[in-house]
Amino acid sequence: MILTKPERRDFADGVALAAAFAQWTATLLQKSVDERGEALLIVSGGTTPRRFFAALASHAIDWTRVTIAPADERCVAEDSPRSNARLIRETLLRDHAAAARFAPLADSRLSPDQELAAANARIADLPLPADLVILGMGEDGHTASWFPGADNLAEAVNPGARALVVRISAPGAPEPRLTLSARVILRARALALHIEGAAKLATLERALDQGPIEEMPVRAALREAAERLTIFAASA
Ligand code: 6PG
Repeated sequence: MILTKPERRDFADGVALAAAFAQWTATLLQKSVDERGEALLIVSGGTTPRRFFAALASHAIDWTRVTIAPADERCVAEDSPRSNARLIRETLLRDHAAAARFAPLADSRLSPDQELAAANARIADLPLPADLVILGMGEDGHTASWFPGADNLAEAVNPGARALVVRISAPGAPEPRLTLSARVILRARALALHIEGAAKLATLERALDQGPIEEMPVRAALREAAERLTIFAASA
């Protein structure tokens, strides 16, 4: 059994969660800006964050001092509906948050090796450690693009890894991915795990139980960053 359990906030539905999570995030980012003059926010993609992104973008904090980067990216063209950069541009970088700086991970104009090198250089230039990393989770227990059975998973979930960004191919992912490694994600000042729906709540219970990280990579965050992690969960 895990020694320290992350803080957890439960909500009846995604609408209530989005409002509370956006307020919590905006307060944290503004505090970072007040204390350090800037803030680095790392966000996940997929379908779950849409409502939360729209709520967060409506908060009038000093976004000119905030940099946003993806926790992972699908290696597709940036205008693809599967692009996390497109999701972030269309649903988060608008309203008040349009003033934030965005650091994408992928660049489909480059060869895979050049793209990976460019992504590592771009992340190395950011004001690390991140002030907040927001993770999602798949029903298979993956987070960011740390998928069970992925090549390079050992490097991705290793907090001591050299790489800041790792290229991943996995049975559970329809396309190759670029993902931030544990070296970036698990060193963040604060982390949040955003999950919605009964199936993911059941996955979370299994992930909180004993078992190898390789089987459910979200365990790396639940175990190694428990003190700095807050779970935002909605049953519907
Ligand atoms: C991605 C994400 C990934 C996501 C989960 C959950 O690019 O796919 O960063 O880790 O958080 O796959 O995705 P859903 O919200 O779509 O269920």
